[in-house]
Amino acid sequence: MDNVNQAEYWQQRYESDSIQWDMGQVSPPLKAYIDQLPDSAKNQAILVPGAGNAYEVGYLHEQGFTNVILVDFAPAPIEAFAERYPDFPAEHLICADFFDLSAEDYQFDWILEQTFFCAINPSRRDEYVQQMATLLKPQGKLIGLLFDREFGDDDIPFGGSKEEYLQRFKTHFDIDVMETSYNSHPARQGTELFLKLLAK
Ligand SMILES: C[S@@+](CC[C@H](N)C(=O)[O-])C[C@H]1O[C@@H](n2cnc3c(N)ncnc32)[C@H](O)[C@@H]1O
Repeated sequence: MDNVNQAEYWQQRYESDSIQWDMGQVSPPLKAYIDQLPDSAKNQAILVPGAGNAYEVGYLHEQGFTNVILVDFAPAPIEAFAERYPDFPAEHLICADFFDLSAEDYQFDWILEQTFFCAINPSRRDEYVQQMATLLKPQGKLIGLLFDREFGDDDIPFGGSKEEYLQRFKTHFDIDVMETSYNSHPARQGTELFLKLLAK
């Protein structure tokens, strides 16, 4: 289970095309969220951590969002993204460990969660909550999807429940929305929660 803490593990999965989590498209609930944002949001500072092939980053870029930071510690998907989007600012492509990002360097208006939480070692979940809150401006938002199911294996994806998430996130966030997503990708219908959490 500790291998998921290592960039090499993920890099190898990309190199061997063993990326079963990859939907090949922007996640429908996140697309719907992005689509209802006003034009005034387009210069907000946005982080997409553990972005992988980063369809959401690509979509934000296509819609004219100018301050989107992509973070992943595996270089392969970042290189692939840069090839797909040659006009995306190179300085916004960060190959680094999410847990090493410093609040002195980064403060975001919102952060987008998409199959990153389920990819980290469950023993690091409180650390994840704290780091997310640290990287957000006061009242900044954590927007995204979390699995509302168990997978039963000692391997990714690591599942969870609404009860668990409420307990964990309430330490650093006010819970605005945490409810079953109604517009998930068909393969994930009824198994994920849409969340909108506000940093305290
Ligand atoms: C399950 S994949 C999801 C990728 C993408 N969000 C998606 O939905 O297709 C998890 C991603 O998180 C990255 N990752 C895992 N732990 C990380 C960490 N501590 N820092 C940065 N990236 C990490 C992996 O390299 C991988 O690309």
